[in-house]
This record gives sequence, C-alpha cells and structure tokens, in this order.
Amino acid sequence: MCGIVGYIGNNQAAPFLLDGMSKLEYRGYDSAGIAVYEKNHIRIDKCVGRLEALRQKIAGNLPEGTVGIGHTRWATHGRPSDVNAHPHADSSGQFVVVHNGIIENYMALKEDLISKGHKFISETDTEVVAHLMAEYFTGNFEDTVKKVLKMIEGSYSLVFMCAKEPDKLICTKKSNPLVIGLGNGENFIASDIPAIISKTRKTFIMSDGEIATVTKDGVWVQDIDGTPISKKVFEVNWNAEAAEKGGFEHFMLKEIYEQPKAVRETMRGRLAKTGDAIEFSELNWTAEEFKDINKIFIVACGTAYHAGVVGKYYLEKMARIPVEVDIASEFRYREPIIDGSCLAIFVSQSGETSDTLEAMKESKRLGARTLAVTNVVGSSISREADQVVYTYAGPEIAVASTKAYTTQLLVMLLLSIYVAQLRGTITQERVAELVANIKEIPEKINRTLENVEQIKVFAKRYGSCEDAFFLGRSLDYAVALEGALKLKEISYIHAEAYAAGELKHGTLALITEGVPVIVLATQPHVYEKTISNLREVKAREAIVIGIAVEGDTEMAKHADHVIYIPHADGELAPLMAVLPLQLLAYYAALTRGCDVDKPRNLAKSVTVE
Ligand code: G6P
Repeated sequence: MCGIVGYIGNNQAAPFLLDGMSKLEYRGYDSAGIAVYEKNHIRIDKCVGRLEALRQKIAGNLPEGTVGIGHTRWATHGRPSDVNAHPHADSSGQFVVVHNGIIENYMALKEDLISKGHKFISETDTEVVAHLMAEYFTGNFEDTVKKVLKMIEGSYSLVFMCAKEPDKLICTKKSNPLVIGLGNGENFIASDIPAIISKTRKTFIMSDGEIATVTKDGVWVQDIDGTPISKKVFEVNWNAEAAEKGGFEHFMLKEIYEQPKAVRETMRGRLAKTGDAIEFSELNWTAEEFKDINKIFIVACGTAYHAGVVGKYYLEKMARIPVEVDIASEFRYREPIIDGSCLAIFVSQSGETSDTLEAMKESKRLGARTLAVTNVVGSSISREADQVVYTYAGPEIAVASTKAYTTQLLVMLLLSIYVAQLRGTITQERVAELVANIKEIPEKINRTLENVEQIKVFAKRYGSCEDAFFLGRSLDYAVALEGALKLKEISYIHAEAYAAGELKHGTLALITEGVPVIVLATQPHVYEKTISNLREVKAREAIVIGIAVEGDTEMAKHADHVIYIPHADGELAPLMAVLPLQLLAYYAALTRGCDVDKPRNLAKSVTVE
C-alpha cells in the first residue's frame, strides 16, 4: 500500500521525506517520488524501483526547500513506471498531489477534463485530482480542495501542495490512514507513525472526512463545511519497530486483523449498485464470449492453491462447469489436456511464484485463455496473463498468508457468481441474496476475531502437542487444508487435513487419546455426516475443537470445545471459518517460541522451482 509523508518547517524537507519514506517501506511499494517547493516552483523527482534508485537519481542535486511531500507507490491503476509514480501535477505544475487509495469515478472525471482541454501523461487515477485542482481553482487553495473533494468518490488519503500558497500543505482522508506529527516550528504528515517517530512523538490521527491545513506554526482541522474540529493529541510510546507493525507484535497478527478492510477493498466496485449482480469491469465478459469455454483449470501453490480448492466448489456449484484444481508444480509436468476451450485461472498473492508463472506460460502455449488472480499490480503473472483480477489485499509481509487467502476466496466467490450469471445458471434472486450476505462479511470477520481470548487458551493448552488433525467435508474440507498448513508452517506442529469421510480409510489409526482434532462443521448439507465422523474420533478419546455456526446446539454435545462463527450463507462460511484457524496457528507458534513472521526454511515469494 502506498506510503505518504509531508513536511513543512524551517529545515530542509528532502532529507526528512526520504527518511520518512524509508520507514514506510514495509507497506510494500514499487516506485517512489518527492515534491519540494524550490525557488518559486514545485520540483518533482520520482522513479520506478526502490527508494535507493530515487536517492541515486537526486544524489548531489537534492531539491532545496522547506516544504515538501513524498510518496512510495504500490500500483493499483497503471503499471509501476516513472510516469505513474507519485507525486502527480497538473500541466502547469502548480498543483501537486500524493494519494493512497483509489478514486473510483476517475474515468468519468478524466473524460470530462479531457473534453475541457486537459492533457494527461500517466495511467493513474491520482493525476485526475491534480487536474481537478487546476480546473476548479477558486483563487483560494483550501476552498478548491473542498470543491474537489465533493467531486471525487472512492477511498483515499491525499496531501495537496499549491505553488500559489506555498506556506501550507492540505491533507484529508477517507478509509485510508493519515497521521499528523507536531513539532516546534515544523509539522509532519504521514501514512503511519514510523515515518515521523524520529522527529516527534506528539501526534494525532486524522479521521474520515477531516481536512487539515498544515503550516510550520500550526495545524487547523475542519470538516468539508468549514466546521472546526479539535483533535486529541497523544504521545507515542512505542519504539519504531513496533510502530511499523501498527502496535501488533507481528506482521501476521496485523494482517489477520486487516482482513475486514482487505475484503472490503476486494469487493469495492464489484457489487452492482442494483444489488443483484456482480460486475468485473476489468473483464467485461459477455455470455457469447464465454460460450466456447467448457472447462476451467485453477492452478496455484501453497495457500493460493487452497483458495483454488474453494474456488472449484464455488464454480462447479454455481456456474455448473467442470473445474480441475492443480498444484502448479504438478500441472506443468503432467501433460495437461488443455486447449482453447478452457479457461485457466492462476492464483498467486505475489504474482511471482515461478511454478505458477511457468504453468501459465504452458497453458498459453497450449491455447488456453488465461486469467491471473493476484495481489501485486505489475507482477510477472499479471503481465503474462490475458486478463487480471486484483485482490487488493494490500501488501502481505508475513510468510504465512492470511489476508491474501481471504481476499482470494472472495474473488473466487465473486467470479463464480459472475460466470454463473453469464451461463444463466443462477437466478437474480439468488445473486441478490448472496450480495446482501457478502456486504456483511467485513463485520462478521470482526465478530469472528472476537473469539481470540478463547483461542489463546486452546493454543496454550494444546501447543505442546506434536500432531494435530483437521477434518471437514465439502467447503469445510477445503478450509481444513488451509488450517493445517497454517499450523505446520509457523508452529512446526505436524498437522494434516482430511476429508472427514476419508478418515476411516487409514487416518483413524493415528487418532489416540489426547490428540487434538479440529472439526469444521459449517456446511448444512453435510452437517450430520460430519458429526458422525466427529463421534468416531471422540470415541478414540481425541480432544475435539469444533468450528460451528452460531445457533448450532448439537456440536457442544459432542466436542470438548466449540468456536462459533457468525451465521452466514453456507458458501460464505469459509471466509469466517478460517479465522480461528489462523489465530490458533499464530498463538500456538507464540506458545512454542517460534519466529512467527519468518518461519524456518520458508520464503514469502518462491521464485525457484
Ligand atoms: C510461499 C508462501 C505462501 C504462498 C505460496 C504461493 O510458499 O510462503 O504463503 O501461499 O508461496 O505464493 P503466491 O505468491 O504465488 O500466492
């Protein structure tokens, strides 16, 4: 996710901006840039790549000035490139802006500005904001910002500079973070506290809809109607490293708690305003176009593969089309029967996993239509695919994938409904029902995460076990696979997932007294059968932790412990059911003293075979 910094004071801006941006590197980025008010104009320096590339570009020629803004870009609209990097300016260079988020209505605004003679040089949504400032300038910087904010829709944190009023920076936010740091004769703006902590610990957090005018001597906060807002200033008492993790002990835990926001980003713009359809403007498939597709492959590795297993259930159930789901490293070498009548979907958080990339190349060679589902704009897989759907989870730092998985699940669900619409295998009423349920997911994720205290107790109690088993049927089995992977990769407890009905064909021999078995039973159509399997393990004196839906009175009669998830349509249950498993893995790893964010032998992005 993009990182923003701003400085106004008596000292040189550029050194602070570069240092502050380096503290935001953890957010993930692909290009960087700064704008400094230097000798009556705003000078912009920016380039694709790491911050080091920018430092080298301006080495020996640092912009001189005491007001500036900086940005690390994590591409959403337009590939990573020099020209797409922020800051962005209007054609006169008088209005400059940095942005984190998405301007949803930028296309309509851009077309209107083009008809008024504006020329755009980047592919970004952000450039529109700078041009709007120029087009609608009232003679007053602050008034113009308010005017422009009324025109834009979406999510953003924005910082504006104006060469006509260089004694101030103006910033605002909606659904994206922004903090203000207060110094003596200088003030700071940033996406996150680590960027300013070396300069000041006096800070306040901006809330949605607030507009701050920041000068070197003070900060004035108001709403869009000009009503003044008084902010509570607080002293940061974290160290820089803790601050980077937003106060969480590990990136993994931070990312677990980012899931409500991440899924909100994934669904943004994809639920039709009418509430009874799914839209993918980046695909724009027609029923006619899709008629020739009679089989779908889903190919991926690790957690992304597990999201693919869920995707198979969704697609087959809703769109009634055969789906094969494959581990990328197997797919490549098994001479797959795939051709122009197939759609091949490649799921990859990083977009760089070499087996997935090579599998995609092979599918293309064999004539299949390829679609990437990835989190990283401009990644190799996104470039190689015929079409791309982004998950918009924000950067994932911890090796153990959490928010990438839930957003992949949501994309698979939305895609399945979308394909079902095209194939006429779903009614509009059913879509409306699903859409209403999907809108509630972020809140239900929050509620599920409230089980954390109960899960900490289980992790302590059973964290010393050397084996654990995960059982489920149907979608619960798919989630069980991910639960077992989470536990083994970070706690090093040997964990296996089994389709509950398969238990009797061998695994039951391993179930003995005291072995923890996590049984997922969220799917109504196989509920009774799952409970029978639960009773089989209970009869062997296993310790059973059940994952059940609120209102289920049966599970508690059989299991030793039950973790409840909010009630939702069966299809949506995986988005909630996986959360206790992520937390269980996390706290079990802590109990065992493991390095949660960097588990032994594992890497975040696997670019070798
Ligand atoms: C590595 C990571 C996993 C990830 C897998 C696939 O093993 O540790 O978390 O699921 O690669 O990565 P991708 O970026 O393709 O989703």
